[in-house]
Amino acid sequence: MTNFLRWLTFALCLPFLFGQGAAQVAPLLANINARQTMSLDGQWQAIVDPYDVGALDYRAQPLKNNNAFYKNYKPQSESELVEYDFDSSGQLHVPGDWNTQREQLLFYEGSVWYKRSFDYTKSPKNRLFLHFGACNYLAAVYLNGEELGEHEGGFTPFDFEITDRVRAHGNFLVLRINNTRARDQVPTVNTDWWNYGGITRPVTLAEVPETFVQDYSVQLEKGSTRQITGWVQLNGARLQQNLTIRIPEAGLSKTFLTNSRGRAEFSFRADLTLWSPENPKLYRVEIASETDQVIENIGFRSIEVRSTDILLNGKSVFLRGISLHEEAPTRPGRGWSDDDARTLLSWAKELGCNFVRLAHYPHDESMLRMADQMGLMVWAEVPVYWTIQWENPQTLHNAENQLNETIARDHNRAALIIYSVANETPVSDSRNRFLRQLIQDAHAADATRLVSAALQAHEVADGNRTTIHINDPIASDLDVLGNNEYIGWYTGRPEDTDSTDWISEYGKPLIMSEFGGDALFGYHGDAHIRWTEEYQENLYEHQIAMLKRIPFLRGMTPWILKDFRSPRRTLPRFENYFNRKGLVSDRGEKKEAFFVLQKLYRELQGGQPPKQLKSSSY
Ligand code: GCU
Repeated sequence: MTNFLRWLTFALCLPFLFGQGAAQVAPLLANINARQTMSLDGQWQAIVDPYDVGALDYRAQPLKNNNAFYKNYKPQSESELVEYDFDSSGQLHVPGDWNTQREQLLFYEGSVWYKRSFDYTKSPKNRLFLHFGACNYLAAVYLNGEELGEHEGGFTPFDFEITDRVRAHGNFLVLRINNTRARDQVPTVNTDWWNYGGITRPVTLAEVPETFVQDYSVQLEKGSTRQITGWVQLNGARLQQNLTIRIPEAGLSKTFLTNSRGRAEFSFRADLTLWSPENPKLYRVEIASETDQVIENIGFRSIEVRSTDILLNGKSVFLRGISLHEEAPTRPGRGWSDDDARTLLSWAKELGCNFVRLAHYPHDESMLRMADQMGLMVWAEVPVYWTIQWENPQTLHNAENQLNETIARDHNRAALIIYSVANETPVSDSRNRFLRQLIQDAHAADATRLVSAALQAHEVADGNRTTIHINDPIASDLDVLGNNEYIGWYTGRPEDTDSTDWISEYGKPLIMSEFGGDALFGYHGDAHIRWTEEYQENLYEHQIAMLKRIPFLRGMTPWILKDFRSPRRTLPRFENYFNRKGLVSDRGEKKEAFFVLQKLYRELQGGQPPKQLKSSSY
C-alpha cells in the first residue's frame, strides 16, 4: 500500500478516529486554582506520530490492542514485538506548544502523543477531576489504558471526572494531540497566526467533596451599580443545601437554599466600590455550602450601551485599546503563565490602555484574571475567523461549544466586557444565520455583557473624498460594532485617511478593532518606504487624525501590540514568518509608532477630549 493511500485512508478515518467532537467532557469546574489541586505540569514523555501509527493499523482501522499507544504497553519478554516506548522517546514541556521546543517541529502539524505518570492518594468520599487549560486542536485523553474522552477546540478548558479510575500508584495519563487543520474546524485551514500544537496550558488534578460547588455567578445586575444578582450550582448527591454568599469587606452575608437540582438564584443590594481601570477593586467573595467552599476574587462593575455611548458604571467611556495574540512576551511560542500575562498587559498599560482585544481566540484564564487585577477591560473572541463552513451544523455546534466554554470559564471576570463572535467573515445568508445564532447564545448565556464582532466595511469613493459605510447586516444584532480597516497598508496610502469619512445608520458605538501596518524594528528611512518604522509611525498619525473625526467611535484596538509568528508571512529580511505590525518587536523593542499611540492615550487619559470625540470620560 503506497504511503499516499495509507495517508488517504487515515485522513478519511480522522473523524471516526476522533469521534464527533467532545463526548464525555464533564461540566467545567469553576475557578480551578481555588480548589485542592496537584499540578501535572512539567516534562512529559512524548512520541511524534505523523502517520498516527499509535492509533491506526495499516488498514487505517483503530487499534484496540497493545499496539495502541494509549496502552503504554511494555514488552513482557525479549522476543515480544512492541514498536513504541514512551519512556525512551524524549520529552516535551507541558504547558507549551511543541513547535518552539524542537526545531524540527516548528512547522509540524499532525499527532503527538504525551504520557505522564503520577501517583495520587485521594481522600475517601472525595471526587477527583482532571482539568486541562487547553490543548490545540483535537485531544483524545486516556487514563491507565482506558479512554476518558475527547475535546475539540484549541483555546478553551475542559475536564474529566476520574474519581473511579485513579489509583494510588502508577497512573499513566496519555493524550493524543492533533493540530492538523481541516475545513470544517473552528478556526478553519487559513489563519494569520501560527498553528501551535500541544498541551498548551496547565494540567491540574482537582479534588473536591462528594457534593461540591460546581459553578457560580456573582455579578451586578445589567445596568445596575447596586444590585447583585447571581446563582450557584452544586454537583453531587446532596443537592438541597444551605448556601452562604459572604463578602466580608462589605459586611455582606446572605444565606439561600438550593433547590432539588442543586441550584440557588439570588439578588440583593450591596454598596460596593465599583471596579474600573482607574480603580480595579476586587472583593474576596466566599461561596459556601454545607459540604464545600470556594473563595473567589470578584470586581463589580456595570457595562452597557446607550445610543453611541459605552457606559462603564453608568459613565460614558472611551476604550483606549490594543489587540494582542497569545504569544509569550519574551520567548518564542504560546504564552500561558501569570508572568506572560503580566508582561504583555504591562506593555499595554505603558501605552496608556484601559482596554485590550484578546485576538482571535480565548486566551488563558491567567490573562483575564490579570486584566481584572491590573484594570484593563477585555474584548474576548472565539476563532470564527475568515471563511468557515457556515452551512455545516457540526461547525456551528463546535463554535457554540467554544463560546459556551469561554463564558463558563470567565463569566465572573469584571474585566471582561465584550464577547466577539467573529472576525472578518464574508457576508452571506448562511454566515448571517450562523453569527446570529452565536450572538443569541452569548446573550442567553450571559445577559450582563456586550456582544460584538470585527466587521469589514466597504468604501465608496465620491469625488475626492471616500465614505466608508458600516452596513453589515448583522450589525443590527450587535451591541457594539467592531471594524477592521487597513487604509495605508493593504489599501491606498496613509494620507488617504485624510479624505476618508465614516458613516453608520445603526446608532451604535464603534470600536475600530484593527488598523495598522508592518515595520521591522530598527529599519529606518523615509516615511513612504514600506517596512520602515517611519512608515508605520506616519500611518498611525494619519489614522488617529481620521479616527478622531468619527463621531460614533468609542474605542480602538490597533493591530497589534507585538510582532507575532505567522505562516502567511514568508518575505525574507522583513517578515521571516512574522507579522510585523507590532508596536513592539518579537524581542520586546518598542517601535516609533508605539510612542505615537502612547501620546494619544496619554492625551485622552488626561481627560483633554481630542477635538470631535464627544464621549464624556476617556
Ligand atoms: C486581518 C486579521 C488579522 C491579521 C491582520 C493582518 O485583519 O484579522 O488576523 O493578522 O489582518 O493582515 O496583519
